Order: sequence, then structure tokens, then C-alpha cells
Amino acid sequence: MTVIVVSNRVARPRVDEPVTGGLAAALLPAVKNSGAIWVGASGRLADSPGKDSLAEIEAHGTGAIATLDMPAEHYRGFYEGFANSVLWPALHSRTDLIRCNPEDFASYRAINAFMARALLRFVRPDAVFWIHDYHYLTLGEELRQCGLTRPIGLFLHTPFPSWAVFASVPQHRELAAAMLAYDLIGFQTDHDAANFSDYLAREFGLTRDEAGVIVHHGGMTRLATFPIGIDVAAFAEEATKAAARPEIARLRASLQGRKLAIGVDRLDYSKGLPHRFRAMDRLFERRPDMRKTISLLQIAVPTRDAIPVYQQLQTDLAALVGEINGRHADVDWTPIRYLNRSFPQSVLAGFYRVANVGLVTPLQDGMNLVAKEYVAAQNPLDPGVLVLSEFAGAAKQLDAAILVNPHDIDGLANAILQAITMPIAERRERWNAMIRRLEESALDGWFSDFVTALRSTRRSPRRPMVVPSASVAAIPRGMGLATKQ
Ligand code: UDP
Ligand code: G6P
Repeated sequence: MTVIVVSNRVARPRVDEPVTGGLAAALLPAVKNSGAIWVGASGRLADSPGKDSLAEIEAHGTGAIATLDMPAEHYRGFYEGFANSVLWPALHSRTDLIRCNPEDFASYRAINAFMARALLRFVRPDAVFWIHDYHYLTLGEELRQCGLTRPIGLFLHTPFPSWAVFASVPQHRELAAAMLAYDLIGFQTDHDAANFSDYLAREFGLTRDEAGVIVHHGGMTRLATFPIGIDVAAFAEEATKAAARPEIARLRASLQGRKLAIGVDRLDYSKGLPHRFRAMDRLFERRPDMRKTISLLQIAVPTRDAIPVYQQLQTDLAALVGEINGRHADVDWTPIRYLNRSFPQSVLAGFYRVANVGLVTPLQDGMNLVAKEYVAAQNPLDPGVLVLSEFAGAAKQLDAAILVNPHDIDGLANAILQAITMPIAERRERWNAMIRRLEESALDGWFSDFVTALRSTRRSPRRPMVVPSASVAAIPRGMGLATKQ
């Protein structure tokens, strides 16, 4: 069997290069060990890519990474436009940030159609297709229209929001109907799967049975939960090895015996960075005796910076950090060390191990791998404490962390204080509980569970999804949806 994995972003297989985002971080080792072919964008645009759009194919362990030059005419509308200015905010329940226009949606559909045609070269009698994330919600439908009959699955790395939030995307019914072309749709948490199921019930009157299967006019689609994991042993080993690295020695020396909290995030509004910084500020305001006892190392990696809301966030955060540091810093101490750059995971692992507190406080997050990596990197004899947002998918498994509501700045400041002062016995007890949960749901299990479920999903003849007539007026024509006669 050949697994064809598809995502917009692929990681570069070079050792010691930072990866961008949890999707690439998870797929890189998974593809290496599974023999899968991973297909995604090369980062280059072509004016009229045709059959030669395949830019490169590079071996990666037992698998391979194939990249495509993407159509220049549509890529920005697809990536900066519909994917990241409509779907990303909607999926993270930020309807106030949705910026929608029909041209971007047309580009989204065009890139999905382009990818479908490009994938046909990988069709084998034994191939299964595993598509990743919100960039390619309509790719399954495009592949079916190209005549593909092999199993096709989708895994959503982000949350899936409540009905009313998803329904605020103007093209929501067309998107959801297209998603039903997938045989299997995987979510990070049961809550996300339940939200999608609820959406289908309200919009299309569809129900799922006990096995998670939805029978619809287009065939059958199974919904299931596959919480993404990490390679716990590999991360722990990296963390131990990292002690010898100069970056880690420099960090340790710079602390002068003081404590360290760490945050590692893309510079994204879903990550709750202003809330985190305000909580540090609140802690030092309310407890001046805590000044000079701890600082926060915040690695905030710029992301999607052609999109205005991300540019604004960069400006706002730089100002906020400057203001907080200006108020509390001393000649030999800075409360927040703010770095707009990325590090390879081999270095991050060492930073995590040095830090007494891991601050992972997103407002919404599909899973959040940093939370898991922080736990895996700890010294079992003297583990640090994880402060984790209850709105990260990881909180479902890591419920032995200090769970917080990131909107509650006072509560967050208290949680940081609790973490800094936690007795060793409690730190060990919490860490032991968390590492057990991580070992139970490791990365290789995530990959093989999804592929096994995809292969065994009951197949049925596929027809275009029929959208109930009440909604027909809202559906643009010629988008591959049949209407009920
Ligand atoms: N990461 C990295 N270098 C950095 C910052 C982050 O390699 O400088 C990795 C990190 O180790 C993690 C991923 O990027 O594996 C971030 O994944 P997460 O699920 O936490 O968030 P996402 O960016 O996907 O929203
Ligand atoms: C999240 C998304 C991924 C995306 C990553 C980085 O993890 O779920 O699909 O690749 O962020 O974002 P970027 O836009 O740089 O690919």
C-alpha cells in the first residue's frame, strides 16, 4: 500500500532546520518511517504550471517529499485570502477577523482543483490519499471528479467550531458538502468531531451512527478522533543531548540562578500572546517580590506576515513587551525576553528542559504540540510545570497540567505563581501522569491508526453530494454540487 499524504506546507527534510507549525513537525518523522509520499507546495509560483509543476522529489527515510510549483494567478487568493483570512479565523472562532471575497474563494477552488490534477500522477492500484488541513477541504471532491475511486481521508489539524461560527463563512454549505466526498474525516478531539456532526445535522439533516458513519446521498463518510502525538522518546533524547549545546549553556548562564518560563508559538492571534504578557505584568504588579525571580523567554516566530492582521499583531506585541519591560526591568534583569526568530527542535528541546514553567495559553488551538514537547523534554527527577489553556486540544490528554482560562488574566497570573512555587512532589506527580498519557498516544500510533481506519472505511459508490433544495439558491453553480430534482 502507498500512502499519499497531501498538505499545503511541507517540511524540509534537512536536519537541524526549524519546522513551521505542528502539521509539518508531525508529518516529517511520520513520513520518514512510513514510506509515504508527501506532496505539497514548493514555495515557488509558476505562471502557468502544467504537467511539469512537480518541482522536486526528495527521498526522506523510507518515504519521499514531492513539491509542486503553484499557480501564481491563484496562490495568494488561496493562501493569504480564503485559507488564512476566512477559514483560519472561522475555525478558531474569530469571526470578527473574517475577510471574504468571491475572487479568493474562486482561487481556493482553483488551487484545490490544480492539486487534484497534480496528484493523479501518484495514483497506484494500492494507493490511499490522506489530505491534511483546512487548505484542502474541497480536494476530495475534486479528486472524485477526476475519477479517483481509491480511499481518501482528511485530517483537520485545527479546531472545528460550533455551527453558528462555521455558518458565518459565506460558502459554508458548499465547503461542508464537498467535505462529504472524503471517506474518513479525522479531528483532534471529540469536541471538534461533535461540532462538525452537529453542523451536518442542522444544515443537511444528516446524522452519524454509533460507528461515526454518516450516510448521505453522495455515499458514506466516517467521522473519528485521532489526537496527534509526538515521538516522546526522541524528544526526551534531544533534550538530554541538547545540554551540551552552546545555546543551552548560554541560556543557563544568563539566568544567574533565576527561574525561567518559556513560550514557543507562531506569532498568531490564536496563541493568546497578549494575554500571556499581561499575566506576567499582573504578576509583577501584584507581587513585586517576584520581580527578578523569574523571566519569560518568548519565542514568537513571525508567520503569514503578508496578511494585515498578522502585521498588526507583530506591531502590537512589540509595543506591549516594550511597555512591560520598561516598567519592570532592572539593569540586570528583563521580565520578557522576546525573540522573533525560530530554532531547530534540537535546540528548543534544550530550552524546554531548562525552563521551570511551560506557558502554553492559546485562545483556541487544534492540539498544540509545544505543550507535549515541553512535557517530553523534562528531567523526570526535577520536572518543570506546564500551564496549559483549557482551549488547546492537548488539554484533553494533559489534564494534569495547571489548566487555565487564558482570558482570565488574574487567574493566569495566579497559575504562573503556583507553577513557580510548586513543591517537587507535586511536580513529579503531575509530570508522571502527563508523560504516561503522551506515551499512550504517540506519533506513530496517530499515523497508523488513521491509515488503518481509512483503509477499512466501508466503501460505497460515490455520487456528487445532493444539497437539500432549500439551500440551492445559496450555492454557486458549476461547483460540482448536484441539486435535488
Ligand atoms: N517549532 C520549531 N521551531 C521554532 C518554533 C516552533 O521547530 O522556533 C515547532 C515546534 O517544535 C512544534 C511546532 O513548531 O512542533 C508548533 O506546533 P504547534 O502545534 O504547537 O502550533 P502550530 O504552529 O501548529 O499552530
Ligand atoms: C498550523 C496549521 C498548518 C500550518 C501551520 C503553519 O499548524 O494547522 O496547516 O502549516 O500552522 O502555518 P503556515 O501558514 O506557515 O503553513
